[in-house]
Amino acid sequence: MADGSQFAFTPAVEAATLPMWEKVKHHVTPMEWRLQAPLIAEINRLKREKDAVILAHNYMTPEIFHGVGDYVGDSLGLAKEAAKSDAKIIVQAGVHFMAETSKILSPEKTVLIPDLLAGCSLASSITGADVRLIKQRYPGIPVVTYVNTTADVKAETDVCCTSANAVQVVEHVAKEWGVDRVILIPDEFLARNVARQTDVKIIAWQGRCEVHERFTAADILELREAYPNAEVLAHPECPAEVLEVSDFAGSTAAMNDYVLQRKPKQVVLITECSMADNVAADAPDTEFLRPCNLCPHMKRISLQNIYEALAYDRYEVTVDPAIAERARLSVQRMIDLPPPLIPARYDLVKARHHVDVELI
Ligand code: 13P
Ligand code: SF4
Repeated sequence: MADGSQFAFTPAVEAATLPMWEKVKHHVTPMEWRLQAPLIAEINRLKREKDAVILAHNYMTPEIFHGVGDYVGDSLGLAKEAAKSDAKIIVQAGVHFMAETSKILSPEKTVLIPDLLAGCSLASSITGADVRLIKQRYPGIPVVTYVNTTADVKAETDVCCTSANAVQVVEHVAKEWGVDRVILIPDEFLARNVARQTDVKIIAWQGRCEVHERFTAADILELREAYPNAEVLAHPECPAEVLEVSDFAGSTAAMNDYVLQRKPKQVVLITECSMADNVAADAPDTEFLRPCNLCPHMKRISLQNIYEALAYDRYEVTVDPAIAERARLSVQRMIDLPPPLIPARYDLVKARHHVDVELI
């Protein structure tokens, strides 16, 4: 079985991949590029041959993000793209729940994930059976679920949300159902951060993102002392105390927009490490300070296994059609909401402190 090492760095490959090299040259050495560029060229050729698209999350490494991603973005953007893509094959350069979401939205397409073990600590924190018990305990209270969950959890859900639209979804659901409480699962920290931005009372589950839970307020304060002019952008999966001492909280796409629109001189992205590498390629006037945590699940995806996914049609992600049909309703309700507004004021996270949530 060919492993991709047979492809050579020819002048034709060098020319075809030059625009990608321009994007990644500050993060990839010329020696690495001589190995990566032939794989990038071959992956891009296979995509055309097989009518495939690669949906790549913002946490992919720069050679994937800039080299082979047809659509790059946050969880919300990737889900929307999966729903509208007309390619035959979707290769999910991200984690398993993202591939499942693509399959749920595009059941007729072949969805491939390059490594089946690319999981997520949030997705594995809760099962469909847990949600059924929660619904028994809180009858009549709507269930809003973060997309970082398995298909069977989504099937038990009223409306899904992402970090880009969680406040908007919670408020929409509360209004539509005529209730003042909403169950928002499974990320406890996202739930706590949403609670600070709405009057809707939040019932939360104790799931955590293993990447973002490790940041502390002390880390940020230390950083601020060392770099007083740096603007601090944090992901809402971080603890509330981290967001309190940050300048802005938003999804990975919102962080990207913040940097590209506001062009801060110095910025810190409190999130997964590849995020800054990818934004930096398009923000030459911004200096990125680099405290970050790696997501071991996202980092399972490589150019090598993307090539193998396309070459050998592996690994196919399937969802039981009965579960997929119910899960689709909850994801589609989210997609049908108007796009989230990037807040005009970027200090939204400081608006309110210490709003409590009810922990299940
Ligand atoms: P977003 O890209 O939706 O902000 O999500 C971050 C994340 O951790 C996905 O796993
Ligand atoms: Fe899951 Fe966190 Fe990794 Fe995202 S960064 S895939 S939420 S563990």
